[in-house]
Amino acid sequence: MLNESSARARLEENGQDHVLRFWGELSQTDRDTLIAQIETIDFRLMNRLIHQWVTSPPPEERFKRIDPVPVIPQGGGEDAQTAWQAGEEALRQGRVGLLLVAGGQGTRLGFDGPKGAYPIGPITGNSIFCYHAAKIRNLQSRYDCVLPWYIMVSEANHATTKEFFREQDYFGLNPKDVTFFQQRMVPCVDEQGKFMLEQPGKLAMNPNGHGGVIPAAMDNGISADTQNRGIDTLSYFQVDNWAVKVVDPLFIGYHVMRNGQMSSKNHRKRRPREPVGVHCICDGVYRVIEYTVLDMYPQLLETDSEGNLIHFAGNPAIHILDVGFIDSLNANYDNFPWWRAHKKIPYIDEKGERVKPDEPNGYKFETFVFDALRFITHEPIALEIAREAEYTPIKSREGDNSVAAARESMRNLWGGWLEKAGVPVSRDADGKVAVDIEISPLFALDEQEFLERAKGREYDATSGLAIGPEGDVETG
Ligand code: UTP
Repeated sequence: MLNESSARARLEENGQDHVLRFWGELSQTDRDTLIAQIETIDFRLMNRLIHQWVTSPPPEERFKRIDPVPVIPQGGGEDAQTAWQAGEEALRQGRVGLLLVAGGQGTRLGFDGPKGAYPIGPITGNSIFCYHAAKIRNLQSRYDCVLPWYIMVSEANHATTKEFFREQDYFGLNPKDVTFFQQRMVPCVDEQGKFMLEQPGKLAMNPNGHGGVIPAAMDNGISADTQNRGIDTLSYFQVDNWAVKVVDPLFIGYHVMRNGQMSSKNHRKRRPREPVGVHCICDGVYRVIEYTVLDMYPQLLETDSEGNLIHFAGNPAIHILDVGFIDSLNANYDNFPWWRAHKKIPYIDEKGERVKPDEPNGYKFETFVFDALRFITHEPIALEIAREAEYTPIKSREGDNSVAAARESMRNLWGGWLEKAGVPVSRDADGKVAVDIEISPLFALDEQEFLERAKGREYDATSGLAIGPEGDVETG
C-alpha cells in the first residue's frame, strides 16, 4: 500500500502532483480513498495515452483498401445443419460459458441503477437481467448443461448489481454459476493532460470501456475458472440488448467448426449513415470502422446497382471468444488500442469549487472489445442476423435504440409468433402490433418452441398479453 510520501513521489515523477492540492483539508477517509485510487493507476499507460492522444495526437489512421468482411448469410450457408449440430454438441459437452459486459455508465438512459435492472417488460416490469437469466435457464435445461455466467461490472455498479441479483434470488440460477468481476478504471484528463478531481479527495475516473473485459478476465481469474470448468468458448453480449440470443448454437457451431478465435455477428445497416460500426477488412486486417469516421471512407456509403449497401455489415456487439485467444490478447495487452472521447467532465477547480461544464473539457480513455478482431490470425467468422429477433440495444428512452424502439421491435416479433399460433393480435393502420406483448423466454425461446408449447392453450392478445414461464397469462 502506498503512503503519502510514496504517492506524492509517484505523482511528482509523472507531473500529476496537483491532485494532492487539497491534501491538508481532507479527512483520513478521503486521504485513504485518494491514495487507494492513485495506487491503481498504471502511470506508464497513462503517460502513453496522454502523449498519444492529448499532447501530440497522431495523424488520423487511413486505410488504402477496404473490403467487405466475408459474411455467412442469415440462417447459415450450405453447411448450416452441420454447424448447428456442432454448436449443440459443444453446448451438451459443457464447453460454453457466457460473458456479459455490464460495467458501462449508462448515461444516455439516465436510469437510477444498473442498466440491467431496467424494468424493460412493458407489462410484467421484468428487468433486462431477468430476461437474460430466463434464456440461460431455458438453454441449460434444453442442453442439460451448465452455462456459467461471467458478468463484468465496474466500481460504480458492482455492489448494486450484486444486490439486485441477491434480491431477485439470482432469477432462479445457481449463484455458484454467476460470477461478477470488476473492470479497471482510468483517470480522466483535462485538455492539458492533467488528471481531474471529481471531489477534493477523489480523482475523476471512468471504466476502461468494454474492451476492459480482456484484462479484467485475467485480473479476476475468469480465464482460470473457465479452464477449471472445461470451458473454452465464451458467448459475449452486452447488457442492453434485450433481444440477444445469449447463446446461439448456429453461431457457436461455425466458431468451433472453423476453429475460431473471435467470431462476430453482424446485421444489415438500415441506411448508409446509420450510426453503427461496420465490419470490414482494412488493408488485410479485420476491423470495425466507427460511424464517426464514415466521411473519411466514402466507399463505406456506396451501394451496388440494385441500391444495396456494399458494406452493410453493422456491428451489434455480439461475439464468441475463445478462452485461449483472450489469454493471448492479455499477453500482448500493451498493443491493444485505446481511444479517447471528448466529454463534459464535472471537476473541482483550483479554488475547490465544483464546476459542471457546458462544453467538453476533458478526455475519457476507453478500449473497445471489437478491436480484439484485428489480432485474429485465422479466417474471419462473421454471421449475419435478422435484426428484429436479436438486436434491440437500449441506449436511451426514446428514438433510435431506445426503450420505446426495443419494445416495438419485441412486440412485432412476439406478435408474429402469436398470430402463427392462431391468436388474434391488434395491429395498427401501418400493420405494426399495436399492443404490449411479452413472452417469457422460459416458456419459449423461439417461434418453434412457442408453437409447440402454445398448442391447446387459449390466448387473446387484442388488448396486450404477457405469457409467463409456465404459459400462464401474467399481469403487471
Ligand atoms: P455503451 O457504449 O452503450 O455505454 O456500452 P453505456 O455505458 O451502456 O451507456 P452510455 O454511453 O453511458 O449512455 C455498451 C455495452 O458495453 C458495456 C455497457 O455496460 C454495455 O453493455 N460497457 C461499456 C462496459 O461494460 N464497460 C465500459 O466501460 C463501457
